[in-house]
Amino acid sequence: MTPMSDLAEALLARAVASFEAGAPALDAIAKDFQAQIGQGLAGEGGSLKMLRTFTRQPTGRERGRVVVVDWGGTKARAGLVELAGGGSVRIVVEEALTFPEAMKRGAPEPVFDLIAGAVGRVTRARGVDAAPLAFVYSYPARLERIDRAVALVSTKGWRLQGLVGRDVAAMLTAGLGRAGLARITLAAVANDTVAALILQSYQARGRDPETRPTDIGLILGTGTNLAADLGPAGIRNLESGNFDGVGGVETPYDVALDRELDEPPPGAQRFEKMVSGHYLGEILRRALVDLGARTGWFHWSSSSVIAAPFALDSAYLSRIADDRTAALDDVDALLRSLGVESTRHERHGLRALGAAIARRAARLVAAVLFGTLRFVDPRLDDRRTIAVDGSLWGGYPGFEGLVRAALVELLGRERADRVETAFVKDSTSAGAAVIAAVAAAQRSEGCSSA
Ligand code: GLC
Repeated sequence: MTPMSDLAEALLARAVASFEAGAPALDAIAKDFQAQIGQGLAGEGGSLKMLRTFTRQPTGRERGRVVVVDWGGTKARAGLVELAGGGSVRIVVEEALTFPEAMKRGAPEPVFDLIAGAVGRVTRARGVDAAPLAFVYSYPARLERIDRAVALVSTKGWRLQGLVGRDVAAMLTAGLGRAGLARITLAAVANDTVAALILQSYQARGRDPETRPTDIGLILGTGTNLAADLGPAGIRNLESGNFDGVGGVETPYDVALDRELDEPPPGAQRFEKMVSGHYLGEILRRALVDLGARTGWFHWSSSSVIAAPFALDSAYLSRIADDRTAALDDVDALLRSLGVESTRHERHGLRALGAAIARRAARLVAAVLFGTLRFVDPRLDDRRTIAVDGSLWGGYPGFEGLVRAALVELLGRERADRVETAFVKDSTSAGAAVIAAVAAAQRSEGCSSA
């Protein structure tokens, strides 16, 4: 080893260690999160929005055919979903849409027109002329009814002009009108976290009506957020990506990322910026640039993936973690495809950094789950279910294991064993359809009791 690589090793080890989030820090985060849930519900401010959802737990017997729109990231989907009761759900047809980058900062109407166009194609292809529609809008929105959602400041890099304060349900309805689809009528708006929660309840209770409903719906994908059934307060969308109690485990990389990004602005979405797929690759990229400047390693700026913000996709983290070969051959192949020649030491360093960033994300997730569970059930006596969806949970090798290990540290083995995590893959459209069916039942009860 040369003195130069000794220095690199030492600085790398220090960077890796800076992503440690020990049990005491997680415990403090959980307490803060729990307290902020109470604060948000009481209308006393704090970083958790605790948004109302106007839906309730399904029975598992819901039926019907529902058009769904899922808009929550760079991609959106329009589809047709059939619920046959007994927890059964079938996606009949689905079309994915991608938004040009420029659209994210333009006027809202073109976005709704693009979505309405896709709704037109999927419904016409199936000869559906009239149907209820469920709209999953996975950005912050203040619901005033099940079919009215006033947009708050967006997340995940979107900033449509003049959107804040407007009802996104009415805007979609207008788009459907412009597309000649006036008989496709918006029945419900929901967040993706709520769709995950409701779908898991529907499937579990459909199979066994005695099953307790799901407590938490968690998304770990491009963004992160959770919804929870808070009993008398109903099912709430916490917008937990905005949780700000993370100062104790921030590294200089996180601080700089938060400060330098204009969308979401500094101080907003601080939890999400340390946890979700949209950001993990960027944290790693920043660490590599920093170590590249201070050591003889990682002089990789010839690659645009290292040079350009947000070019290092979080999916690479999963691929890097997956390589178990001694010389990290697949990491080598990946780097070469990105125009980077690397040494074995550098590849191991890269892998260690990526693993530390993902591990911290998993542990932070465990902390906020713990905080939520304790709010729901202070002694954690009962069995609890958490429905989880998203590319990070589904795609990063061992992510679930990391979350569970941290839960065991925080709750103890016995209580952690009472907490089930259920992966509900591709839950959004299916869950939305259930929410629309629940809304239809609520409406007909409302009518008959009126
Ligand atoms: C962002 C959105 C939130 C959504 C989450 C996961 O945090 O603000 O509404 O649930 O991403 O998609």
